[in-house]
Amino acid sequence: MRADIIILAAGQGSRMKSDYPKVLHNIAGKPMLEHVILTAIETQKSIGEGNIHVVIGHESDKIKQKLGKYNLNWVYQEQQLGTGHAVQQAIPYCKGADMILVLYGDVPLISSMSLESLLLSCNGNRLALLTINITNPSGYGRIIRDGFGKIQAIVEDKDATSEQLAINEVNTGIIAIPGKSISIWINKLKNHNSQKEYYLTDIVAMAVENNVSVVHAQPSNAIEVEGVNSKLQLMELERAYQKQKAISLMLSGVTILDPSRIDIRGELSTEHDIIIDINVIIEGKVIIEKDVTIEAGCIIRNSHIKAGSHIKANSIVEDSIVGENCNIGPFARLRPGTNLSNDVNVGNFVEIKNSTVATYSKINHLSYIGDSTIGEQVNIGAGTITCNYDGKNKHQTIIEDNTFIGSNSALIAPVTIAYSSTVAAGSVITDDVPKKSLSIARGRQKNIENWKRKNT
Ligand code: UD1
Ligand code: CA
Repeated sequence: MRADIIILAAGQGSRMKSDYPKVLHNIAGKPMLEHVILTAIETQKSIGEGNIHVVIGHESDKIKQKLGKYNLNWVYQEQQLGTGHAVQQAIPYCKGADMILVLYGDVPLISSMSLESLLLSCNGNRLALLTINITNPSGYGRIIRDGFGKIQAIVEDKDATSEQLAINEVNTGIIAIPGKSISIWINKLKNHNSQKEYYLTDIVAMAVENNVSVVHAQPSNAIEVEGVNSKLQLMELERAYQKQKAISLMLSGVTILDPSRIDIRGELSTEHDIIIDINVIIEGKVIIEKDVTIEAGCIIRNSHIKAGSHIKANSIVEDSIVGENCNIGPFARLRPGTNLSNDVNVGNFVEIKNSTVATYSKINHLSYIGDSTIGEQVNIGAGTITCNYDGKNKHQTIIEDNTFIGSNSALIAPVTIAYSSTVAAGSVITDDVPKKSLSIARGRQKNIENWKRKNT
């Protein structure tokens, strides 16, 4: 079946008090609208085919700039005259669709599972509403049923009688509509209501009049249908999302010392016996293998941490691979392109960028290693710097197996320190060092005996 999806995202979101459109605010590190787009794509894949239309209005350029990479039909709604009017703008592009699914750009956590079950209920010939029962229904459209429990209409909060206001079953806004009926209904909408808006919800009464059955489905989790109108609600939804993520990680065998102090902003895949201490942030695609410990205050972004490694407090690992049984930090920074083999030690205040380090090598204190290839069993002394940048270009440093770089050396790239050689502490190395040699490149120490300081 062909199901077209219309995502409504034209509203201003004035209560966010922001220069950015509401739907570009992040939940779990990703714009709310992007969550909805990705779920729409996933849903469509499993249901069949279809197109995705996003109705935008306020700050539409900013939205397109941020999310233009997705292959979507952007529909412009000049004036926001109501949800029915918004859907109307997209309908001309939906010809031939068996079903139309309407989603909201500010209801980010809807799951494809709930949407698939809604589309199955619709099946191209029923009007299917996603509803939920809540204790405080104020602000929502109420679901009106007859004496037999059959849905008759949706009445908006501002138009409801006091009797209707007491109804706890509400419209989440997410609706699946038969393709063959929608263009008839959508053009019949009137704005004769308290808000002078064209309400999409008025199609429910039309369906009843046309003997099209109206059915409902409910989401498996209430946070799926929670909308965001303010920064406070944004935070509340973020916390609810993070709590859920932490719970599912713990149930899958990860030890999390405090589930209220971990943030997962992306996709984390884990194995057993991982320990994550407080205030850790995981971003992008991260893989953590078994027996890894991540101490407090670490940020791990788009990286792969292999089994048995220990990331000590306050380290940042970005676009990097950490081999098995490595020790990183505390206070280490692995920048993009760092690739560590197994059993590598990287200590405090060490920064590594775009470099590979082979097994059993150590860079334990206060170093900068950039654009380098470091062999096995290499010991890099404290304060060693690879001078990879001449102000214009970046150059490579090659440090072969078994070398020993004395503390506080500057290696001026391009340069190669060949196999098994030693660089004396405090050297400034400008030329290649041959294998198995000792290189000393510093001023010699002179001792002047019986020397007296002036004025003493
Ligand atoms: C809507 C529903 C209500 C439901 C509630 C759930 C209608 C008439 N009412 O009410 O039954 O309980 O959602 O949250 O549908 N939008 C546009 N263009 C417009 C108007 C709205 O794109 O012209 C977008 C908004 O950006 C927003 C969404 O549609 O993402 C919902 O609009 P909003 O005005 O918040 O609807 P509610 O009054 O909350
Ligand atoms: Ca409204």
